[in-house]
Amino acid sequence: MLSLRSRRRDDLTALDALRAATYPYPYPTGWYRIADADSIRPGEIRAITCLGKQFVLWRTRESGEIHLMDAACPHLGANLAGGRVEGDCIECPFHLWQFDGTGRAQRIPYSEQPPERVLTRPYELEDVHGQLFLFHRSEADPGAADQPPPYDVPRIAEVDEGSFVRRGQRNAGRVRMHIIEICENAVDTAHFQALHSQLHLPWTQVRVPGVEIVHRAKWVLDEDQPWMMHFDDDVSLRALGRTLPGGETHVRVSYHGPGSVLTFRFELPGWGELAMVKTFLPIGPLEQQIDFQWYAPRSVPRWLVWWVIGNWVSQFPQDIDIWENKSFQAQPKLCRDDGPVFAMRRWFEQFLPESDAERLPGA
Ligand code: FES
Ligand SMILES: [Fe+2]
Repeated sequence: MLSLRSRRRDDLTALDALRAATYPYPYPTGWYRIADADSIRPGEIRAITCLGKQFVLWRTRESGEIHLMDAACPHLGANLAGGRVEGDCIECPFHLWQFDGTGRAQRIPYSEQPPERVLTRPYELEDVHGQLFLFHRSEADPGAADQPPPYDVPRIAEVDEGSFVRRGQRNAGRVRMHIIEICENAVDTAHFQALHSQLHLPWTQVRVPGVEIVHRAKWVLDEDQPWMMHFDDDVSLRALGRTLPGGETHVRVSYHGPGSVLTFRFELPGWGELAMVKTFLPIGPLEQQIDFQWYAPRSVPRWLVWWVIGNWVSQFPQDIDIWENKSFQAQPKLCRDDGPVFAMRRWFEQFLPESDAERLPGA
């Protein structure tokens, strides 16, 4: 398999420039996971580049609140991420102006009169199960800018009720792909047998010889919640031409928005359900930060959670090798038995700027 990891940097740059030109707008409207709330300590400042913007994420020392703001200082543009936290303010490294979490200047060391108005806009963050999410709009639409987001960050009801507990999380790192690819993955049912039929030892690329994974996958648009689509997969294991008893799992992957937040429900016959949340954050047009968290009832043994989640994760590198080398086919030549690629693209258009949506042709 061709792998970008073995390529020279200048080849990569040239390839990515060609690839990027084929894709639609890279930062569609939706909720995006920015950080794990617990990972940012009081007084910490973090520079975050994503969604075509430069942000600074910081936590106050005294009240412990977390703020996200534009990284460019509204005074003369220094990067606030190079500054420090002073009490409940962030101090710019250039002329030492101090801003509170609302974006007002509270102190200017050489002036008695800081401007009273808000100078830099803070961004609201939503904390869901300890993960911080930002709602991003794909274009400046004066009418829509102050409207509430059209949908919420999904919560796992069992976590809220206390019947599921967090069993793990994984920073899956950066993948050089466009975010629409994770959505196309759900409708391109034909690639499952080609890429995902080989059982691996959980969390590894070590193949288990003689055992095949059989997928029966279906894509479903959510009629009640137009920003959602689902991917249902009945998975079973086969060896020597027979289905292995006890190896069946039903998986529903729900897409909340443009591939930025996916919830997985694994039904394990005889055991109950597991939940996993997978997030994609566009760092650049062809670069995604990917993270997972997973949750289970206390009654499901840890080894089973490890097996199920690890099996799913070990299927992921096969997609990555394809995604990191592919371009977008605006006019794909499909055969009769391909999945509903055009229907998914029409669904995806709702998250794109109007000017760009035409780049996804309907069939
Ligand atoms: S640029 Fe930030 S205080 Fe001047
Ligand atoms: Fe895949």
